[in-house]
Amino acid sequence: MTPSLPASGERLSAQLGLTERVLAGPRMRKLLGIVEDGLDEVEATLARELTVSDALADATTRYLYEAGGKRVRPMLALLTAQLGSGTTEHVIAGATALEMTHLGSLYHDDVMDGADVRRGVPSAHAVWGNNVAILTGDLLFSRASQLMAQIGERAIRLQADTFERLVLGQMHETVGPPSGEDPVEFYLQVLADKTGSLIAASAQAGVFFSDASDDYVAPVLEYGEKVGVAFQLLDDVIDLSADPAETGKVPGTDLRAGVPTMPYLLLGRASDPASRSLRATIDDGVARIADGADPAILDDAMTRLREHPATEATRRQAYEWADAAVAGLEPLPQGPVREALVKLSHVIVDRSS
Ligand code: IPE
Ligand code: IPE
Ligand code: MG
Ligand code: MG
Repeated sequence: MTPSLPASGERLSAQLGLTERVLAGPRMRKLLGIVEDGLDEVEATLARELTVSDALADATTRYLYEAGGKRVRPMLALLTAQLGSGTTEHVIAGATALEMTHLGSLYHDDVMDGADVRRGVPSAHAVWGNNVAILTGDLLFSRASQLMAQIGERAIRLQADTFERLVLGQMHETVGPPSGEDPVEFYLQVLADKTGSLIAASAQAGVFFSDASDDYVAPVLEYGEKVGVAFQLLDDVIDLSADPAETGKVPGTDLRAGVPTMPYLLLGRASDPASRSLRATIDDGVARIADGADPAILDDAMTRLREHPATEATRRQAYEWADAAVAGLEPLPQGPVREALVKLSHVIVDRSS
């Protein structure tokens, strides 16, 4: 399947749209200005920190950064920083380092998932091969650590602990549940580890590096982790989306590569004949694709899964996790930051890219 690639202007507007949707309305205008200024600083820091003297490494590290991205993690750090002394230099450094960690994880993830398109462009391994893509991810992790080291020990620990969880999440997704463990519960833990950890760390970074009250650490951590699970559940729904121009990814990438997603796992819980037959078709297609068959053999099954109640149930789960994330914010003071975090949880589960 050849995806149609969106124009860079469209990608940019999708990115700008997120901040504007979260911080819509006159009462949010001041906070919008603060977050936009912060995001500009993060962008400038990213551009600076991604410079490498080696010409090939310079091109490969900049490649996916320049292709787009929503910058959800820096936005979250900038929002929670306003609970303390605001957008400090350390907040910018921490938000940038976490975005670089995310970026590095995308290079590796596309190798693992066999994904050919990312952010609307051919993925790095499709351009340079697996080795260069993996090494580029490693380089980005090194650069993120260097930036965290400029902040201090707390930042280094946050980075290291978060990265360990992310890696173990990817590892557990790869090997699957041990026998006897419920695959859906196991998968929810995978989502919390591979995605929730980094989003929670972003929310925490804003609190840590703006010297906000320690009382806010636990609530933003809980919020970040749960909203991260909601985010990833929606990502699973988006994986089945028909519109690559919006998602910047090839529809059904994970499904065709045999990477488990929540719609597929919930399909496995359904015992009616049509659901069983769809599951068997998918499993058979995945095995044949692994043996070299055209990934398009699963086009029809993908459409059927998208229309199956399992996909709607995944969307409902995402809403439930977003609601639970919001409930975690109870100890925060009422005000624009809390309102924006609530809105962000809604935007995350209503997004299409
Ligand atoms: C994609 O994250 C990987 C996941 C953890 C779902 P994003 O959806 O934040 O990716 P970009 O940065 O906007 O491309
Ligand atoms: C990405 O998860 C998670 C990390 C990179 C740690 P997915 O593989 O589900 O995300 P997409 O769909 O490729 O963005
Ligand atoms: Mg992937
Ligand atoms: Mg993956």
